[in-house]
Amino acid sequence: MITHQIEGLSGQSRILIGESLNNLNQYLPRTKVVVITDSNVAQYHRALFPSAELIELGSGEEMKSLGAVRGIYSRLVELETDRSSFIVGIGGGVVCDVTGFIAATYMRGLRFGFAATTLLAQVDASVGGKNGINFRRYKNIIGTFKQPEFVICDATLLTTLPEREVLCGAAEIVKHALIRDPELMSYLETNYEKLMQIEPEVISHVVSVSVAIKSAVVNQDEHEHGLRRILNFGHTFGHGLEKIRRLSHGEAVAAGMMIAARISMKKGILGQAAVQRIEGLLKKLKLPTQVPVNRSELMNALKRDKKRQEEGVHFVLLSGIGKTVVEKISFDDLEALADGIV
Ligand SMILES: NC(=O)c1ccc[n+]([C@@H]2O[C@H](COP(=O)([O-])OP(=O)(O)OC[C@H]3O[C@@H](n4cnc5c(N)ncnc54)[C@H](O)[C@@H]3O)[C@@H](O)[C@H]2O)c1
Ligand SMILES: [Zn+2]
Repeated sequence: MITHQIEGLSGQSRILIGESLNNLNQYLPRTKVVVITDSNVAQYHRALFPSAELIELGSGEEMKSLGAVRGIYSRLVELETDRSSFIVGIGGGVVCDVTGFIAATYMRGLRFGFAATTLLAQVDASVGGKNGINFRRYKNIIGTFKQPEFVICDATLLTTLPEREVLCGAAEIVKHALIRDPELMSYLETNYEKLMQIEPEVISHVVSVSVAIKSAVVNQDEHEHGLRRILNFGHTFGHGLEKIRRLSHGEAVAAGMMIAARISMKKGILGQAAVQRIEGLLKKLKLPTQVPVNRSELMNALKRDKKRQEEGVHFVLLSGIGKTVVEKISFDDLEALADGIV
C-alpha cells in the first residue's frame, strides 16, 4: 500500500492507495457510522461495505443538488446522527462531493472519509478537500473546503466501471502528466493498454503519481489563488464542449487539452512534436482529439460557464510536456487564437 499524507488548511488527509475496501473498518472510530453511496456502487460492491447505517442515493450529477442534500440531512436527523458520528462516502466524484459537503455542514461538521470507486475520484475528485454541489446552471457553485480523514483507493473496485468512466479518469491522468510530469507521460505511452484493463500495478502507479501531483499543487494553493489554476488545463474549452455536445467530462477535457496545446503551439511556446505526442497518447486511449463545433457557439458556451461577468479567463498553456504558463486572456483574444483550431 502507498500512503500520501496531505496537510491541508482544513485538516489532514491520508490517501491510501492499494488499500482494500474490506479493511475500511480499521479506519472507523467506534461510534455511529453512516455510509453514503449511490445505487450503482451499492449494486456491485455492497458486500464489502462495513455494517453501518446506509444512505443510498440515485446515481448521477443530479445528486449534487440542494434537493438531494436536503433528503440526506433529513435521513441524518432520523438516524439521530450527531457530532460524534462518522460519515463515509463510498462512490465516485458525485458521492465524494456530496458526502464532503454534508459532512462539512451538518451540525457544523462531522468527521468523514471516502472510499473512491471511480478512477476519476481516485486521481482527482477525492483529493484536495474541495466539496461542491450544483445550483441552477452552475456546477460546484456551493461548497466547502474540508479534507476527508482518509481516502481508500482500492483498484479492484474499478473493474466494474464502464469503459467510458475509466476514460474520464484517464483524461485527468494525462492532464497531470502534461502539467507536471514528463515521466508519467512516457509511462502512459507504454502502459495505456494495461491502464484500460485496470491492471492493479499500473492503476496503483498512476493513482499514486496523480495524487502526488494534485496534492503538491493543492498544498501550495488550497484555495485556488494561483497555482491551483494549472489543474484547469484543458478545462476552459473542455467545459464549453461538455455544455454543447453530448460528451463525457473526460472526452471534453481531452479535446479541450488538444485545443490548449494547439493554441500553445500557435503562440510559439510549444513545439509541434509535443503536440503530436499528446495527440498520439489521447488517440491510444481512444479519447477524442478534435470535436467539430462552431467556434462562436463554443465561445458563447465558454462565457456562459463563467460565474461572474469577466472579460476573460486565466488560460493554461503548455510550454513543454510537464510545463505550464498561465496567461490572462480576453475572450476576444481567445476566440482569435482558436481560429483555425476550433
Ligand atoms: N471536488 C473535486 O475536487 C472534484 C474534482 C473533480 C471532479 N469532481 C466531481 O466529480 C464528479 C464526477 O465524478 P465521477 O466521474 O466519479 O462521477 P460519478 O460519481 O457520477 O460516477 C460515474 C458513474 O459511475 C458509477 N460508479 C461509481 N463507481 C462505480 C463502480 N466501482 N462500478 C461501476 N459503476 C460505478 C456511478 O454510479 C456513476 O454512474 C463531478 O460531479 C465533478 O464535479 C470533483
Ligand atoms: Zn476534470
